[in-house]
Amino acid sequence: MRRNGMCPLCYLKKLFTRRSDVTDVFYDKKYENGAALTPPMGWSSWNTFRNNIDDKLLLETAQAMKDNGLIEAGYEYINLDDCWHSSMRDEDGKLQGDLTRFPAGIPDLVKKLNAMGLKVGIYSSNGTFTCEDLPAGLHHEKTDAYTFAKWGVEYFKYDFCHNERISKYAPLVYSISLAPAGERDALTVSCEDALLYGTAKLMPDKRLPGGMYISGLDGASGKAVFKNVVVPKAGRYVLTINILKKGFYEKFLIAYVNGDNYCRFEIPSQKPFNLTARYQAFVDLKEGANTISLFNPVATRADSAMIQYQYMGQMLKEAAQRVAEEEGREVKPIVFSICEWGVNKPWKWGASAGNLWRTTMDIRPWWQWMKMIYERNVKLYKYSQKGNWNDPDMLEVGNGSLTPEQNRSHFALWCMMCSPLILGNDLRVMKEDVLKIVTNKKLIAIDQDELGIPAKRVKKGAADILARPLSGGRWAVCFFNKGGRREVSIDTEKLCADGYVKLERAKAYDCEEVWSGKREKITTSLKAQVEKNDCKVFILAPQK
Ligand code: GAL
Repeated sequence: MRRNGMCPLCYLKKLFTRRSDVTDVFYDKKYENGAALTPPMGWSSWNTFRNNIDDKLLLETAQAMKDNGLIEAGYEYINLDDCWHSSMRDEDGKLQGDLTRFPAGIPDLVKKLNAMGLKVGIYSSNGTFTCEDLPAGLHHEKTDAYTFAKWGVEYFKYDFCHNERISKYAPLVYSISLAPAGERDALTVSCEDALLYGTAKLMPDKRLPGGMYISGLDGASGKAVFKNVVVPKAGRYVLTINILKKGFYEKFLIAYVNGDNYCRFEIPSQKPFNLTARYQAFVDLKEGANTISLFNPVATRADSAMIQYQYMGQMLKEAAQRVAEEEGREVKPIVFSICEWGVNKPWKWGASAGNLWRTTMDIRPWWQWMKMIYERNVKLYKYSQKGNWNDPDMLEVGNGSLTPEQNRSHFALWCMMCSPLILGNDLRVMKEDVLKIVTNKKLIAIDQDELGIPAKRVKKGAADILARPLSGGRWAVCFFNKGGRREVSIDTEKLCADGYVKLERAKAYDCEEVWSGKREKITTSLKAQVEKNDCKVFILAPQK
């Protein structure tokens, strides 16, 4: 058992220590970049074209989006999924488009697509390679985020293949040093001057300068706080952590500065040729006293994923800002789409890391599979919010052998759940009925409603009933019939009494069905015949 420099008693204590505020600082914040204030809408190459994409396909798809009114209907992103790039990074270490399929390069394609009225999305993985085993973002976050921002990319999907988990172990720190870059260490603070919390503990080692080091900063259970780190002027400093080497295993540490910015140290498995080692990162300090807290926030697999996605999210924001400054223009925010398939419960932390997070494994154009994805996502309604959305994956409307009823239900359910509407079919050969479904104005308006409140399933059964409030004092109600043709109904009082839906009590409601446009007045009950696998969606407005 590795104890990472801890005394045996401290190790026992750790087993019984609750996750401290160490991890909470990373859960609490909300990812805001001014993008995706309503669920993003667009098209992605993956569902139909997989690894077979090139610039011609993208340009033809963009033209189709223009010609068949999809841009006008609100579809604004055109997203290159996996396999847009070459297996070689360029001589500066930057990703580059597939050299023969995108011969003019991705920046050129982005310009052309922008000129056609579309924003461009791109894809990578929070791993050493993508799911198609091409070079990816882990350990290249800053460079890659900057490359994409410089190309003018405005949507970024970040997968989870080839992920490497962050170590829960922390290094053994015996002092920290601070100096402006290019100067010899100006200030060194010994570990004995740190306040220690949780399992963090001073341990003796006579061989070290000062004779002590801090152990127990591991696994979100201990923290060392250096208060009064005094520097003469505000600015960017090099923070060096001086550590006692230990063990052939990786370690991780975060230095949290004045509670508002942090830097990270990824420490490889250590060879014991020397007793000590130095690791450096930049930190922004203010003039006078600063507080630097050291800890490893990673206790679980989910913490690791969260910290990595948060880091990429931060890099994207910084890159968008930097490029805007360099080019003297407004910031083009990059929608950050987290795609770790729901394995680490991203609905619990996704809003602190990005704009949307996949809640399920990959969608397929198979009805049973689709229903399984819906089943999982519909339960997570409480986690979606304006700017940060559950993502039950891209649309399969028009793909496979889905029937017209199934296509309609798929689209309507996604709209009810405030899901991103990313088309996944071949737009160049789109059938009229499919186009009609995905351009249904009323449904799109439900999906894009400014309140951003996803539907709750208020009744589960052979027919599900979903309901949600909309802006302008209106409500949307969806009858989704999973079995044979039947009459579905709900008392309006049930919707009024529901603490989430809170339908306004009224003597009567104006009621419009969005597929047929049929209007009626209802009083105490909403009723309809619904075909097998089909759905009906109503917009209710209380009569004054
Ligand atoms: C999967 C992802 C898909 C697609 C694919 C590309 O992990 O869920 O949506 O992006 O990788 O290889």
